[in-house]
Amino acid sequence: MDRLIIRGGIPLRGRVEVGGAKNAALPEMAASLLTGESIRLHRVPQLGDVKTFIGLLSHLGASVERDDRETISLRADGIGQCEAPYQLVRTMRASVLVLGPLVARFGRARVSLPGGCAIGPRPINLHLAALEKMGATVSLDAGYVEAKAPRLRGARITFDGQTVTGTENIMMAAALADGMTVLENAACEPEVVDLAELLNRMGASIEGAGTPTISIEGVSHLHGAEHEVIPDRVETGTFMVAAAITGGDVTVNRCLPGHLEAITEKLRETGVVVEETDCSIRVSGDGPLRGVSVRTHPYPGFATDMQAQFMALMSIAQGSSVITETVFENRFMHVNELVRMGADIKVIGTAAFVHGVPVLSGAPVMATDLRASASLVLAGLASQGITTVSRVYHLDRGYESIERKLQGLGADIERVAE
Ligand code: EPU
Repeated sequence: MDRLIIRGGIPLRGRVEVGGAKNAALPEMAASLLTGESIRLHRVPQLGDVKTFIGLLSHLGASVERDDRETISLRADGIGQCEAPYQLVRTMRASVLVLGPLVARFGRARVSLPGGCAIGPRPINLHLAALEKMGATVSLDAGYVEAKAPRLRGARITFDGQTVTGTENIMMAAALADGMTVLENAACEPEVVDLAELLNRMGASIEGAGTPTISIEGVSHLHGAEHEVIPDRVETGTFMVAAAITGGDVTVNRCLPGHLEAITEKLRETGVVVEETDCSIRVSGDGPLRGVSVRTHPYPGFATDMQAQFMALMSIAQGSSVITETVFENRFMHVNELVRMGADIKVIGTAAFVHGVPVLSGAPVMATDLRASASLVLAGLASQGITTVSRVYHLDRGYESIERKLQGLGADIERVAE
């Protein structure tokens, strides 16, 4: 297991390029199961989760080839079985994204139930209720959920809570169902829109993605397509915070600023300068940071995937802030580690009360999930002394070469094998 060693206190400066979005690439890889023809995806990031998903698709019998560093071709013409095993689902909950496509195309899927994880319970009841409405029979057996339907039929589904992968799963299933499906209270995340774009390129008929109402007219078959994954907005936001927390000046290139408005707004409130073009964001400022409160929400609200990173920033801002997590039940695993670095944070229920301190001090830390790990790296970059972040595999699940990109901005960070 690798560790990152960070000598903090250096303002980051320069340009950095972000990769394709993990949370768009994963459902788009799952969409390849809807056809026997080739799906070519560009700008696929080289991440732990992408590798795991390739493993899952190969396990199912799909062929996956990496054409070049950023491009993969997937062909699901030899699917031999429809089961996502516990070993894979346990390490990556997004594995549940194969459920909808498998039932829609092969009439059957068996997927291990995800169970809980470091950020709280991750139920899939909303995915299952929607599949049942589309005519699937759903049963539970030995920790697995099995869904069967000779042919799914279109339905009117109002999600009893917004779910990103739930919306994606059902959108994929509905693309091959008989008749019209209307999803109400659907997730509006840009990754949902990007998936709908790919599906439409494959011959689906989807309207309204990006709004709470999505209409999908089922078609009898889908065909091959080529698509470029949207830029990763969480990676972008993480580099924006890296600039702010070190009092630096960083331009993030190849991103889509329109996907980060809530983050940009909050960062501006802290006192840093944020300048945008169509495809880049520059964050600069070496003055004192102001404490700013945030509440996480589904898109277009402040993303839960940026909460931990923003908390690291608030831990050295002047004054107090309240950070409220409304999406996941238990996404404060970074708090105790930040406290070990000198932060003053108290959690009461779903709110973290942060009282900014003048400086953090480096310490050995580790986190149990991806974004919590990112927040510790950010805190390390701003700290006095040396921070060692263990369990880097969490970071590798969602950030491509994070230490190399940070080194490019002048950070003193290295990876060592534990
Ligand atoms: N929920 C249910 N029942 C369901 C589904 C969800 O109660 O059937 C609840 C969840 O427990 C949670 C809330 O609904 O409290 C939202 O969960 P959602 O289903 O939207 O999350 P997800 O689809 O499992 C995706 C991202 C997460 C991101 C969340 C929220 C992917 C692969 N994952 O997860 O990304 O935090 O949406 O935006 O798209 C990450 O990248 O670090 C990450 C965790």
